[in-house]
Amino acid sequence: MSVNKDIKRITTHTLLKMKETGEKISMLTAYDFSFGRIIDEAGIDIILVGDSASNVMAGHETTLPITLDQMIYHAQSVVRGVKRCLIVVDLPFGSYQGNSKEALASAIRIMKETGGHAIKMEGGEEITEGIKRIISAGVPVMGHLGLTPQSIYKFGTYQVRAKEEAEADKLKKDALILQEAGCFALVLEKIPAELAKEVSESLSIPTIGIGAGNFCDGQVLVMHDMLGINHEFKPRFLRQYLNLYEEVSTAVKQYISDVKSGDFPSEKEQY
Ligand code: KIV
Repeated sequence: MSVNKDIKRITTHTLLKMKETGEKISMLTAYDFSFGRIIDEAGIDIILVGDSASNVMAGHETTLPITLDQMIYHAQSVVRGVKRCLIVVDLPFGSYQGNSKEALASAIRIMKETGGHAIKMEGGEEITEGIKRIISAGVPVMGHLGLTPQSIYKFGTYQVRAKEEAEADKLKKDALILQEAGCFALVLEKIPAELAKEVSESLSIPTIGIGAGNFCDGQVLVMHDMLGINHEFKPRFLRQYLNLYEEVSTAVKQYISDVKSGDFPSEKEQY
């Protein structure tokens, strides 16, 4: 299906309509002005300013170190490049867990200081007090269940979640609780496709999958992974559309060679 150019601005209501009509939702991460602009102009529905910035922009092993100030910086940069899509910003680790007032304060900072349109939070029943408080202040919230990277030290690995019945049951219950709390959409990360199907069919809000199969209402990938910038990262769920690592490396090698040989700049490239 091609991009619907009649939609001037994607909102949370547009996404609900897409679920109703069966139009799949496309989402990618971005962390800066230049890529935000390319991705938006290509027609994406949602840009997630993900806390995966901690990995792919800052080089940390996990998403835990990134701060609220750093997320605000990335979101401000993306917002300057975007005209059409919905911009969702991750609340980083430590800015909302266990304290619903702090969660609201963090969400308000994101909305006031960045111009983003919504926030995303990882977790189920245990964070609903914070979610409700944020939504009652008028801020749309996207939930995130399954593999939640901010809890990596609790899980111990990045393997598929909810393969066992007890964890799958908790996830199904959490999905309904998050919908009831007012979330406008849910990310489902790295869970069995059949479970994602059951959850997607049980909800009226859209599900956006990553490593969660084809039955979700939409899909999300980390931009650096799908463009092959992060070229050594090749999980089964990833489709790599480019090998940008190789392309950039080839271009840089050519530039170095042109400088060393004196070929660059030529007469036409000087004043
Ligand atoms: O931070 C992120 O990039 C995410 C996606 C993996 C959904 O949360």
